[in-house]
Amino acid sequence: MKKLIAGNWKMNGSLATNAALVNAMLEGLEGPGAISELALCVPSPYLAQMQSLLAGSHIALGAQDVSAHEQGAFTGEVSAGMLRDFACRYAIVGHSERRQYHGETDVAVASKAQRALAAGITPIVCVGETLEEREAGQTEAVVKRQLAAVIHAVAHCTSEIVVAYEPVWAIGTGKTAFPEQAQQVHAVLRAQIAAATAHPERVRILYGGSMNATNAASLLAQPDIDGGLIGGASLKAADFLAIAASGA
Ligand code: PGA
Repeated sequence: MKKLIAGNWKMNGSLATNAALVNAMLEGLEGPGAISELALCVPSPYLAQMQSLLAGSHIALGAQDVSAHEQGAFTGEVSAGMLRDFACRYAIVGHSERRQYHGETDVAVASKAQRALAAGITPIVCVGETLEEREAGQTEAVVKRQLAAVIHAVAHCTSEIVVAYEPVWAIGTGKTAFPEQAQQVHAVLRAQIAAATAHPERVRILYGGSMNATNAASLLAQPDIDGGLIGGASLKAADFLAIAASGA
């Protein structure tokens, strides 16, 4: 299976900068050559713009969150059906910034994953430990608990999710997990998925947290790292393309 390199723009961009960034990416992707599968998870107001910019390209569209509810009186929320209207293929769920700043629980994240799948959208389920948890030796227990909630909720659809291991201490800090350190956690997640589905080979486990053009190749060379979730470096066309090329 090809590596999946997904950009997470977070709360960055404007109509003008998005167009310039995406056009530079698409120009860089012209011509033959095996590349990784690519996606960009963008802020909701730009879904329409991105849908038209990415139409017919090698880059799939994704959202950064999705509501745990189907529809109704949930002011400010965006439903999976709405994301589907804009041809979103992916939705990040349970990013640590949402768990941290918006109080998202494992149960809420699991509901979001379920809603996404029900609408035909692949959830990119983020798991990861804080520095405190790592230092307390709780890394495995934390990521397993976070993933278990989602597996419990999506049950037989487990083979349709994407998992992203993002150590919280590595996100936006410039501190990347060492490839072997990340691999160790990926192997734990892989085993957990294998125990939950008959088709574990379909589930990609991405690494996220300060992945960049320099460190991508060594991370993506690990046997259980199937791609990357890229924050900061997805805001620069050259860096994102270099990461995509590392995973090819
Ligand atoms: P970063 O973010 O690459 O800027 O560390 C990754 C993420 O939060 O998905």
